[in-house]
Amino acid sequence: MKKTISASAPGKFHLVGEHSSVYGKPAMLCALNKRVKVTVEEKDSDNFFIEDNKAMESVVAIRSYIDKKYKIKTPKFELVVSSQLPIGRGLGSSAAFCAAVSYALFGLNGLIGSLDEIYEAAYLGEKVFHGNPSGGDLAVSVYGGVIWFRKETENIKLVRKLKVASSLFSNMLLIDSGKPVEGTYEMVVDVVGRRYKKEQVLVEKFLSSQEKIAKEMSSAMLNHDKNLFEKTISQAGYNLEKLGIVGKQAKRMIKDIERSGGYVKVSGGGGIKEGSGMLIAISDSKNDMIELCKENNWEYLKFNLEQAGVKSENE
Ligand code: MEV
Repeated sequence: MKKTISASAPGKFHLVGEHSSVYGKPAMLCALNKRVKVTVEEKDSDNFFIEDNKAMESVVAIRSYIDKKYKIKTPKFELVVSSQLPIGRGLGSSAAFCAAVSYALFGLNGLIGSLDEIYEAAYLGEKVFHGNPSGGDLAVSVYGGVIWFRKETENIKLVRKLKVASSLFSNMLLIDSGKPVEGTYEMVVDVVGRRYKKEQVLVEKFLSSQEKIAKEMSSAMLNHDKNLFEKTISQAGYNLEKLGIVGKQAKRMIKDIERSGGYVKVSGGGGIKEGSGMLIAISDSKNDMIELCKENNWEYLKFNLEQAGVKSENE
């Protein structure tokens, strides 16, 4: 009988560590209860129902890696994808897609892959999307929860799940500053990468500051220190603005949110010319923040933290 395998993986937001994680600094990321689902069905010929060329190429890259590594020939298949995540807003939709594809292709081949093995295969797909990813987005999609992540080398990545009180996140909201016209690849390579070449000292300062904030934020989370948690969110956001990855529209929104008593930062690769993707915002009153969004016609997303990473969706 021909097999059908469905799998899903969660999207993410960054608490800290965007861009600096590409340079080997730590990041903290949270999985969201919004997932990308992929269904692969064994067929006589390949048919991927996806419009994005990069997504198409990433499926091919993941399949080739699995074939080579496990000395097998993945059967031909049809692939359908559906997403609860807004695309291109810094919420890790491409990583969630790669994680789900990798899991589904292991299943289609009758392989029982560990999460580490699924990660390794999916990473090849992430590279198609982002060129030189840190692997952090993918780590949180594969393992779920709240993670401390550090890319030590291309082949060694440290992933540590953190036990944090979800109450720290109960007043957090994701607020859309608009879709960036620049992709993550462009932001990583053309914007920050070029800046690193031209102004290395300045970017190095940003990198060490991000590391310091990440450490402070982790202790704030582990000690349930709400004030320090909020303060470090603002600091991480301010650093990203200084790095030059935040556009005017998002900067205006950040000011408005801060004026109303909130703590806020961009989350993800950012964007300059138009939107900068999702902002994470936290304040004493979620309802007040929702009111602010309504007054300004800002789209927002309520969410819960997600413990499960990539998983089967077969009944
Ligand atoms: C994108 O979500 C996060 C970046 O740090 C890129 C990466 O970590 O691969 C900008």
